[in-house]
Amino acid sequence: MFNTIEWKDDRVVMIDQRLLPNEEKYKVCEDFLDVAEAIREMVIRGAPAIGVAAAFGVAIGAKDINEGERDGFVCELDKVCKTLSETRPTAKNLFWAIERMKNLVKNNPSAQPEELKTILKKEALTIYREDIEINRAIGRHGMPVIKEGANVLTHCNAGALATAGYGTAVGVIRAAFEAGRRLHVFVDETRPFLQGARLTAWECVKLGIPATLITDNMAGYFMKKGMVDVVVVGADRIASNGDAANKIGTYSLAVLAKEHNIPFYVAAPFSTIDMDIKDGDGIPIEERDRKEVTHIKEIPLAPAGIMVKNPAFDVTPHRLIAGIITEKGIVRDDFLEGFKRLI
Ligand code: MRU
Repeated sequence: MFNTIEWKDDRVVMIDQRLLPNEEKYKVCEDFLDVAEAIREMVIRGAPAIGVAAAFGVAIGAKDINEGERDGFVCELDKVCKTLSETRPTAKNLFWAIERMKNLVKNNPSAQPEELKTILKKEALTIYREDIEINRAIGRHGMPVIKEGANVLTHCNAGALATAGYGTAVGVIRAAFEAGRRLHVFVDETRPFLQGARLTAWECVKLGIPATLITDNMAGYFMKKGMVDVVVVGADRIASNGDAANKIGTYSLAVLAKEHNIPFYVAAPFSTIDMDIKDGDGIPIEERDRKEVTHIKEIPLAPAGIMVKNPAFDVTPHRLIAGIITEKGIVRDDFLEGFKRLI
C-alpha cells in the first residue's frame, strides 16, 4: 500500500499528500525544521498524523543538538518543541505529542543528552506504533454503527493518510468492510483543500471500498432522498463537553443529519480530546491562506480583488453528536462523564 510517515535511517519520510492522487512521492525530512515545514505546508495533515510527525520532529531535533550538558540540551530541545508547536493551532494531537515527549525528559531527571536522545527516539516510535493500534481499536468499537447494507457519509480525510495507519472514521468503515459487511460510502469532496476528493477517494479505491464522490453541497440532497444511513467523521480537537472541531463543513453536515434523523458519529483517539477546554468556544480555529479558496493549484477561480475567509475547521456542538467513537469504546450523551470514566 503506502506509508503515511515513517522513521527511516534517522530521517522522517512522509508521503507528500499535496501531490495525491496524481503522484505518489515521498518527502524526506532531514531535520526538525523540515518536519515543521511539512506540517505547516500540509505535506502531512490529519490530527493523529500531525501528532506522530511532531513526535518524530522532536526526536530528530534532539538527535541534532550538540550540547554535552543536560541543561543546555533541554534549553535547545525547548526551542525545537516551540517551533513544532507553532505549525498548526487546531489539532490537539500536535500539542499532546510534544507534551508527551517533553514529559519524558522531565521524568528522567538524571539522564544526560545521549541517553535522552535514545529515549526520545524510542518514545516517538512508540507513539507511531500505538497510533495504528488505537485506530484498529476505534474500528472495532465503531463497527456496530455501520449496519449491513449501510450508506455511510464521511467528510475530509480521516483515513490511513490522516494517521500513522488505518484511520479513524475511515478505520470504522474499513473495519466493517473487512468484517464482510456490505456498505457504500459517500465521500464529500471537502472544499477548499479537497481532502475528500484527493485523499479519501484515493484510499477507498485502493482498499476496494465501494465509494461515490460528491461535492459538499450535495450531501443534503442525498440525505433527503433517504440515501444516507449514518455519518462518520474524524476530529481535530474535542472539548471536554464533547463539542468537536473538524474540517470546515462538518457542522453543516451535522445540522443536516439532525434534520433527517441520521445518526452523526465522530471517531477520534483520546489524544484528540482536550479535557482543559470546557466547550467548543475554546478551540482555536486555524485561518488558512486565501489562495486555497481563490485558486485550484495555480488556476484562479475568483477575481483578484475579492475578500476571502478561509477557516480550516468548524465546531459541531455535542448535542448533534450521537456518539464519539474512541479506542476505549463509544461515549454517548454525557460526554464529560463518559470521557472521565474511560480516560
Ligand atoms: O486540515 P487537515 O487536512 O489537517 O484536517 C483534517 C481533518 O479535519 C480530519 O478530519 C481530522 O484531522 C481527523 S483525521 C483522523
